[in-house]
This record gives sequence, C-alpha cells and structure tokens, in this order.
Amino acid sequence: MANKVEFYRHLLGEEEAEEVAQTLDGVFLTAGPRTKQFEDWLASYLGVNGAVGLFSCTTALFLAMKAMDIGEGDEVITTPMTFIATSNTVLHTGAKLVFVDCERNTANIDLDQVEAAITPRTKAIIPVHLYGHMVDMRKLKAIADKHNLKIIEDCAHCIEGERDGIKPGQLGDVACFSFYATKNMASGEGGAVAGNDMGLLNRIRSLRTHGMNKEAANRYTDTYQHWDMLELGFKGNMFDIQAALLLPQIKHLETRRDRREEICKRYEEAFDALDVDYPVVEPGTKSARHLFTIWVNPAKRDEVLTGLQKRGIGVAVNYRAVHLLTYYREKLGYTRGQYPNAEFVGDSTITLPLYPGMTDEQVVTVVDAVRETLEAVQTVTA
Ligand SMILES: Cc1ncc(COP(=O)(O)O)c(C=O)c1O
Repeated sequence: MANKVEFYRHLLGEEEAEEVAQTLDGVFLTAGPRTKQFEDWLASYLGVNGAVGLFSCTTALFLAMKAMDIGEGDEVITTPMTFIATSNTVLHTGAKLVFVDCERNTANIDLDQVEAAITPRTKAIIPVHLYGHMVDMRKLKAIADKHNLKIIEDCAHCIEGERDGIKPGQLGDVACFSFYATKNMASGEGGAVAGNDMGLLNRIRSLRTHGMNKEAANRYTDTYQHWDMLELGFKGNMFDIQAALLLPQIKHLETRRDRREEICKRYEEAFDALDVDYPVVEPGTKSARHLFTIWVNPAKRDEVLTGLQKRGIGVAVNYRAVHLLTYYREKLGYTRGQYPNAEFVGDSTITLPLYPGMTDEQVVTVVDAVRETLEAVQTVTA
C-alpha cells in the first residue's frame, strides 16, 4: 500500500533544477563559485567568521578532529544517543571514544555528567544538537574552558537553532552540518563546517583536498599555478552541483522551519491529550525542529512501529543507542546498562513524519494513526 503520509518528502523543484542547469553551463562542477557563495551565506547566517563546504557531515566531523590533531592517545567525549557518524569518526581518528549518557527529558548529552568523564587525555567534546534542540552551549563552553577542551558541535539536525541568543558555531570551536537527503536543507549528500577560528577552518579547507595548498578554482587562473601538498589530508570537498541544489533553499529556510514548528505544536497538543510522551524543548531555545519523536512503552515499540506502517504512516527510529549496536558491543565491549537514558530513548523512540510540505490533514492522519495503533496494541496485549 502506498503511504498516506510518507516519512519525508523533499521540496526540491524548478528553482534547484534551474540552478543546476546554470552550473552545467559553466566551468565548475567541483568546488567553485557556487560552493563559495554557499559558504559565505552559511557564515553570515550563523554570524560567524567563516565556513567550508564539504561532502558530508561525516567528512566535517572527521576533518574537524584531524585539524585539531586528535588521534591515538587522545580521548573524545560524545553521546550514545546519536547517529553512528558522530562516534564512528572518533574511532577513525584512532582516539578513544568516551560516551556520556543523555538526559532523560531532552535526549541530549547530559552536561552534568561530562566533567566526571574528563581525563588528562581528553581533547574534545562533541555535543549533538539532537532533533534540532541545542545543547546548553554556555554551560558546555564553561566546562570546556575549565579543562582546555575543544568543542565540535554536531549540527546535522540544527542549522536554524538558537539557545539563549547563541547559534551553532558561535561558542563551539567548529560546528558541523549535514545536507543529507532528509535534512532541513538537502542536496542528497552534503556538509559543511562553520565557526570563528579561521586558522582551524583554513586547515580543514586544505584537508578537504588532500592537504593541497591550491584547489581547482585557484589553480586555473591566468597562468598555471603549481600546487604543493603541505600535510596528509583527505578528499571531501563540497562541489558546485551540491551547492546549486542548496542555494535556492536559503530563502525558504526560516519559513520552512516555521511550518515544522507549527506541525510540532499540533503534534504536542494532540499527544498531551493522549498522554504520549516526547522530548521537551527547553525554555530560551529555538529548536530547528528537524525530527519529531515520541516515546512509547519499550516492550511495545516495534509493534507500534509496524502498526503505524500498516496504517500508511512512514516512520523511522532515531536512534537505537549506538553502544548497543553489534559492532560496538562485539568489538568495543559495550553492554546494556551502561547508559540507561540512551537505552530508554533508543528502545522507546519512534520518529513521525515532519516536513514543511505536510498538510494539516496529514498531521491529523498521523495523530489518528498513533491513537488507533496504541489502542490496538494495548487491547491485544491487555
Ligand atoms: C546527528 C548526525 N550526525 C552526523 C550525521 C552524518 O551526516 P552525513 O550523512 O551528512 O555524513 C547525521 C546524518 O544523518 C546525523 O543525523
């Protein structure tokens, strides 16, 4: 059966097609003027000194750590309630991964538990602004400054977020963004870093093309310019076709967030009435409203998931706790019971459709399906 409400639907259309067509008429398919234009916009939108376009947020997280010389012998703190990109990139640097449990009410990393996890080898903390809800960056910055640690913000869900007047990238050393297929701005794949430390950003810019000191756009000027390799980098630049897909979305970014906010408010009202729990958005916070999740009885979660799908609702799970995934258990020795809040969220969470193209009727359809499914599951198992 075709879904009555798909899990996600992008809004890319004629404007993006036109921008891509113009790109194909020009010279640059790789990082060129459109990538630069997007970088300039991102920095000014966030109110930071600079941005660097990358292939993905995974590339962003990895290169950010490389640019901080994080590697073997170092430790990096993050949360097990995230997508595996956050923790996998730490493992790829050779540093030791240190998880700190999340809060029970927001599912964001519990800052009250961070200090206990800091050792003399700790180099950085990666807060994840989960579902678009920012971690308290002022509080985290005070901890980081006290222990001389770097902050790498995982902003894959959070371009438009703000907390106590602070935006992503303003207090962290660097903020990492994703423009993956289902993100608030989407180009299929895409990413960027942004922040105030131009030295760090320039190093990431060089690392995105193998550590070369000149990219295609500045090699082919009037006369051929030799390039040199200054350090061991990787390949992970944004390219102009990605940027062409992103540029037309800029003008819609805030209105699309506003629409998602409206949908979330409707969900929250309906689920309050049904006594269905969901993560809170704390006061003083503008959530980017990337994903809307509910928490159901962990013993019934998968039944509810299937029930919703049977009723034509697209669903997902963001996320099962990372430390309980097979690789993490078998290769790294994590066990159930280590991070109880992440385990609760991971076992009980269901993500519902949330995108600006959803109609009010579709929101009602989702809520009705949740109510019916919960009633059915309770009847069967009563
Ligand atoms: C929290 C989080 N971090 C990192 C990533 C990685 O992003 P990308 O797919 O752009 O590499 C994602 C992607 O879904 C994510 O949700």
